[in-house]
Amino acid sequence: MTTQSEPKVTRTWRLDSACQTLVLASYDDGLPEVIHWGALIAVNEDLGALARAGRRPLTNGVLDQIGSLSVCPEEGRGFQGQTGIDARDTEGRPLLTQFVLAESAVARSDALVVEAFDEKYGLTYRATFAIAVDGGVIEGEAELVNRGTRDIHVDWLAAPVLPLPETASHLLEFAGRWTREFALSRVPIQRGVHLRESRRGRTGQDHFPGLVVPDRGTGEHSGSAHALIFAFSGCHRILVEELADGRRQLQAGLCEGTRLSPGETLSSQRICLAHSDTGLNGLSHTLQRHVREAVLRWPQPQRPRPVHYNCWEAVYFDHDVATLKDLAERAAALGAERFVLDDGWFGSAGQSRNDDTTSLGDWTVDRRKYPDGLDPLIDHVEALGMNFGLWVEPEMVNLESALARAHPDWLIASEGRVQIEGRGQHVLDLTNPKVVDYLFERLDALLSEHSIDYLKWDMNRDLTLAVDRAGMPLLVRQTDALYALFERLAEAHPSVEIESCASGGGRIDYGILRHTQRVWLSDSNDAHERWRMQHEAMLFLPPEIVGSHVGPRHCHTSGRVLPMAFRAGVALSGHMGFEMDLRELDGEEAATLTRYTRFYKENRDFLHAARQFRLEPARDHVRAHMSVDADASRFLLFCGMLAAEPNETASPLKLAGLEPEALYRVHLWNRDEMTVPPTRSFASPLVGDDGLVLSGSALMRVGLVLPLAFPDRMWIVTGERLEGNQS
Ligand code: GLA
Repeated sequence: MTTQSEPKVTRTWRLDSACQTLVLASYDDGLPEVIHWGALIAVNEDLGALARAGRRPLTNGVLDQIGSLSVCPEEGRGFQGQTGIDARDTEGRPLLTQFVLAESAVARSDALVVEAFDEKYGLTYRATFAIAVDGGVIEGEAELVNRGTRDIHVDWLAAPVLPLPETASHLLEFAGRWTREFALSRVPIQRGVHLRESRRGRTGQDHFPGLVVPDRGTGEHSGSAHALIFAFSGCHRILVEELADGRRQLQAGLCEGTRLSPGETLSSQRICLAHSDTGLNGLSHTLQRHVREAVLRWPQPQRPRPVHYNCWEAVYFDHDVATLKDLAERAAALGAERFVLDDGWFGSAGQSRNDDTTSLGDWTVDRRKYPDGLDPLIDHVEALGMNFGLWVEPEMVNLESALARAHPDWLIASEGRVQIEGRGQHVLDLTNPKVVDYLFERLDALLSEHSIDYLKWDMNRDLTLAVDRAGMPLLVRQTDALYALFERLAEAHPSVEIESCASGGGRIDYGILRHTQRVWLSDSNDAHERWRMQHEAMLFLPPEIVGSHVGPRHCHTSGRVLPMAFRAGVALSGHMGFEMDLRELDGEEAATLTRYTRFYKENRDFLHAARQFRLEPARDHVRAHMSVDADASRFLLFCGMLAAEPNETASPLKLAGLEPEALYRVHLWNRDEMTVPPTRSFASPLVGDDGLVLSGSALMRVGLVLPLAFPDRMWIVTGERLEGNQS
């Protein structure tokens, strides 16, 4: 019988955030393994004993040691799954690292940094875990330093690698496309590798760079769940592997290889980790709070999120100042507070942007459309009490532009290769400082010369042949240069807000959100599609940054015709705006929209600070969530019906997040939308003037019955806690 030569536990560390504990152990001074990532464990736990208790038995037919699933699993240590580092020398010889732990570990209550050296290759590996300022999320990053004398090539460096629970049966991931972002997919975890990757130069709608791993039996309100989000916009790879021995690993990093010269450091980029013991809602609370407190930087933190009007689906490229002024007046009358002038306002001498084939790159106002420049429109907008926002797509260029003609060498291209166009456009090479200087100069001029308080920053094509002029890969450097450009602009124009748009939701991640304050979740203004998307996105994003617009009666991207109340209800649960030709509104629609907009304004301070709870309705056609303030004294419930009720009557909906013993007065805010059919009779006190008074426990454990509704309708329910015993 073979016996395992037992490695010794040489060092242990722990890091405790508000919702999770990480425990690391090094065996024989090798790279540490994360031996626990999950629920908090006892403060006085003997970590050495824990590490020893977790050693696994061996069977026959395998090596005498189980390959270490360390923060960077190494081929050189006999790890047989996907390794955390994949590097070679310039002749192609693999670097079979055997990192040895350094003495220099930093272990503070809010951060842990471990270093290890490989003397043969002159490499330093560093793993950092730090508790983010929100106190819940733990951020992780790996770095590799070339201390040798020769270049090496690194194909893969994972951020610190984590074990996943073997009790989880599947992953929750998002796999969308244009106008169908945040499409949930449940992927079984099974032996082998499951890999998600974006090489698009933007985050991509297809592979949102985050995933959730719910334990068996986990629901919205209970059970254990882990989440990882990779915080970078240009490219990513996330993989989950179940090894032959049953262990699971989670890796994330950049999917672009790079040369690492002596003295240089390579970063894996940042991962954000969360764990919840209170189901998916617990995760969502931690992650939303992280975005609010650790990621976003608001130019004017106290300013409520203004109601937008965006003219895109009203006029597209057909800009006419009189029409735009008219739309601005109508928008202001309905309650809009910011007017965003979308694509089509710019051009160059002899060329207007009348479709998407020309002018990108020439960021000067088109005098054919705006004979006196933008200011007359801006002045008009401001006189109506609104701020002005402008659409730009700085990273892009059309061949039909003065810029492309003057600087053909500024475009991303590969010598002798045919570059594919995307939406008729090319990408500028931001690794060239001249390009960035030009973009800064143009944007700076626009922001200095005009009263603009908001940019809708678009990015409408994937990168292909993504190399610089020397033929070297540029996805990461391009993204770093973009982030640096945002920084430069923020310094020069600190009050300007920026929205991240990329053909809708193609660039949504925790990297871009350090530089932007809103995401355009989707080009779909179809409230039916939107309701589903917003419901899923809520896991990662707080509602105040999720742009959501009331679209046209006939939806341009789906053909659906949806009632105004539903469109407005969906929009007001995010960052509300309108995006349609407002001249199409009839009196009733305008009145409804005005009423919903007023409701948004009355409730936005509350909604944009509250915690959201996704509910678990009895039937699949219902998607509902509610927002509850910190002391559970107030709530707002949104219940959307996406299909016809399958039964002869409606089922109770159980609420969440309330104080069980407290009494709440509950109203159906939009009870006047109840119609016959489908609800012939509804005797509930919920529709009476006094509303319904029930305890938090009754609302959460028995539930609330709402009227029957046609498909694509939404009930909005308000609740306030009664003080004392009044009822
Ligand atoms: C992208 C955006 C749209 C709009 C157009 C303008 O598709 O997602 O919202 O701004 O570009 O060309």
